Amino acid sequence: MLSRRSFAGVAIAATRLIPEMAYAQRAAVTVSGLPADMVWLNANENPAGPPEVALAAMRECLPTSGRYHYQEFGKINQAIAASEELSPEQIVLGCGSSEVLHTSVDIFTSPTKPLISVTPAYEAPIELARTLGRPVVLTKLRDDYTADVKQLAAAADKAKGGLIYLCNPNNPTAAMVKSSEIEWLVANLPANTILLVDEAYIHFGENPDLKSALPFVRQGKDVIVTRTFSKIYGMAGLRVGFAAAKPAFIEQLAPLRMNVIPIVSAKGVVAALAQKDKIVPERRTALAKTRRDVCAWLRERNVKYIEPHANFMMVDCGRNAREFIAAMPKFGVAPGRPFPPLDNMLRVTIGTPGEMAKFRDVFWKVYKG
Ligand SMILES: Cc1ncc(COP(=O)(O)O)c(C=O)c1O
Repeated sequence: MLSRRSFAGVAIAATRLIPEMAYAQRAAVTVSGLPADMVWLNANENPAGPPEVALAAMRECLPTSGRYHYQEFGKINQAIAASEELSPEQIVLGCGSSEVLHTSVDIFTSPTKPLISVTPAYEAPIELARTLGRPVVLTKLRDDYTADVKQLAAAADKAKGGLIYLCNPNNPTAAMVKSSEIEWLVANLPANTILLVDEAYIHFGENPDLKSALPFVRQGKDVIVTRTFSKIYGMAGLRVGFAAAKPAFIEQLAPLRMNVIPIVSAKGVVAALAQKDKIVPERRTALAKTRRDVCAWLRERNVKYIEPHANFMMVDCGRNAREFIAAMPKFGVAPGRPFPPLDNMLRVTIGTPGEMAKFRDVFWKVYKG
């Protein structure tokens, strides 16, 4: 099994297949001689890890994992769909949301239908489209780093249709698109256009204008929403996500899925969902406090940042962030990779309060030179 440490210095060719793992290689973890107590703030993971109830369910399931358990997936699908007031026909599960993002791009773009997004956005769908030889149109962020939905619609209109990929909150900026703007975009989707909203980080936002696009799925609009258990639920290594869309879209996506998800992971997810109303707000509140503390500390030092709505944020280094990406791991903190064209911005995952104390020390050391 590969440890993170054994990744160091390894050139991974498969960036398009295993995004955060591969993208991590472009960042700090390529530095040799890593400290043993490295604080990993590079992949937007949740240090809280899986909820206790999920761990208990997985422990119980583990000895039975010699079987495929295919017959149980009807119920599992139903439980996951019901957690968002959807029917099983409105979702397809995947190996993380990566798999369903992948299949959505594969099915709903074509040589004549581009993937349309902003720059920078989460790279995986964009790089996949390029790998498949599909056209990609990237629009600029507005001055406040938010996506301009009118530009996205105009690009789709110009292309005579395509797949608009909107990550909300966006990775890497952690900026959000207001629900009124998403509403406008859904109401004004050009012909032959589907909106794919990646809500990997939506649970971490506290702003009332940040709202899920799932109501549009329930209304049968041309909208696909992807969700993951990797982030708020802290289950990244268990690889569970899903896409929600109208049954006609799900019927197109489902045949491309690899197989069922691992039964142990599925049991963990279903157990966590049974306590969703407790787990999600508790984790959001704790994360938001740590995030606010980091923001306050940066403001006190006149260091600019993009207002964050996710479990990570972008800090303006005032100079090329690559300098920080190279230097910080030597002092025991691994930040995110570069995100051109935001060359001066450093993406940092919000870890525990203790981890963020170390981040502050190390960031300041490098910042002051
Ligand atoms: C915006 C976004 N979407 C999707 C993913 C994929 O995550 P997973 O496959 O673990 O659900 C990530 C991973 O970090 C992400 O940042």
